Amino acid sequence: MIEFLRLIGHRWRVIVATVVLAVSGASLYTYLTPPTYTATTELFVAIGNSSGDDSASGIGAAVFFVNSRVKSYPDLVKSPLVLDPVIKELGLDTTSSALADDVTASVADGTVLMDVSVSSESASQAATIANATGKQMVSIVEDLDRSSTGTSPVKVTVVRPATVPTSPTKPVPWLNVLIGLFAGLGLGLAFAALRETLDTSVKSDTDVTEAVDLPTLSMIPTNPQVSSSPLVSAGGANPVWAESYRRLRTNLSYLDPDRPHRSLLVTSSLPGDGKTLTACNLAATIAQSQKRCVLVEADLRRPTVSRILGLTPDVGVTNVVTGNASIEDVVQHADGFDVITGGPIPPNPSELLGSQAFNRMIQSLLARYDNVVIDTPPMLAVTDAAVAATSVDAVILVAQAKRTRKQELRKALDGLDAVDANVVGVVLNRMPAGSGGYYEYEYRPTTGKRVNR
Ligand SMILES: Nc1ncnc2c1ncn2[C@@H]1O[C@H](COP(=O)(O)OP(=O)(O)OP(=O)(O)O)[C@@H](O)[C@H]1O
Ligand SMILES: [Mg+2]
Repeated sequence: MIEFLRLIGHRWRVIVATVVLAVSGASLYTYLTPPTYTATTELFVAIGNSSGDDSASGIGAAVFFVNSRVKSYPDLVKSPLVLDPVIKELGLDTTSSALADDVTASVADGTVLMDVSVSSESASQAATIANATGKQMVSIVEDLDRSSTGTSPVKVTVVRPATVPTSPTKPVPWLNVLIGLFAGLGLGLAFAALRETLDTSVKSDTDVTEAVDLPTLSMIPTNPQVSSSPLVSAGGANPVWAESYRRLRTNLSYLDPDRPHRSLLVTSSLPGDGKTLTACNLAATIAQSQKRCVLVEADLRRPTVSRILGLTPDVGVTNVVTGNASIEDVVQHADGFDVITGGPIPPNPSELLGSQAFNRMIQSLLARYDNVVIDTPPMLAVTDAAVAATSVDAVILVAQAKRTRKQELRKALDGLDAVDANVVGVVLNRMPAGSGGYYEYEYRPTTGKRVNR
């Protein structure tokens, strides 16, 4: 039951969409279906006046005869014997077998009353055909059962002629919509269950553990204000979002209190997972705890740090590693922490990041700062992050909630394991609001109190 409710919670959009589609389809079908009218005439089958035997046994035999005869009349109504004369009389452009599809006849159990119903797209036509069919039945039955004396033991009378129906019998709008609703609900649930089974993306810390057996260091919520205010240290940052980076900082400090990891490399499986934003905000959060921190941009292929932090992209890592500048020449200042951007884009980023010179640069930075945070390209695209990972104390893997697939996360970890990198945990980025997790509390600006949900 809980699984079922969770499925509805996760996939309610697809369920609602399928229901809306199915109901719209049913409504359209109802609208496009031409209306069908049904007219019914009622016939009464009685004992005729053939036998002249008024004794009890004579009447009993006649009643028995009528009752046994009447059972075959519904089939008789649909036969060419009855319908051909109707077609001829009314000048219809059809055949008896086609008309038989529009005719139904029934005798209620234990009675001698027979209903003959005719369906047509025209209400008046339905009534006309029903009445003509009833009239034909009266004369055909009498002809069929006429004895040698010229009289029939059975007499059929029209007791209720068909009248022109005022409303159609088909389509039934409410029934079609109801069928559409239930069909949509069933289909939606089946579709949702299928998507849930096929979805291998990481959505929770449990998924992370299942995929790579690493702890989730923090879950960063999606912050819609990130383009205008990308740093937690800038005034007015979303408090829930800022708290998630503080949690990352705290959890990193818990990993090995005796030998704190001072150089931290941030990478992920694929482009756009949020490596750069995580690295920038990790550096800003570390700086908030009165530590000297430098952010190093080791994504030399698509550098974005300068744009995010409003710095110059002209000089940076490339100049230092190639020996053309010193750290002092390239270091810039952001909100509470220092930054070395990528600098000019080199033709051989992997070689630069795997070089002794890059390693020496990191060691020099560790002599000046408490922490070095390194932003890198994605693992599954290029080897840059893996080669740079050999120069640091700890590697943090960023996964994008509901996007990064378990196998992609595993592949990234395999690449890092292959170079013996010390991968310490995963940051689950872009967690949708309302998806649960420990960061889930709201800030009430009016009272200034955080309320745990
Ligand atoms: N928690 C978040 N809330 C809202 N937007 C986010 C969040 N994390 C990342 N983004 C947005 O997603 C986009 C990609 O983020 P970012 O540049 O940090 O990813 P990346 O992994 O460094 O990408 P690349 O591999 O291209 O370097 C950016 O526009 C960023 O603002
Ligand atoms: Mg990036």
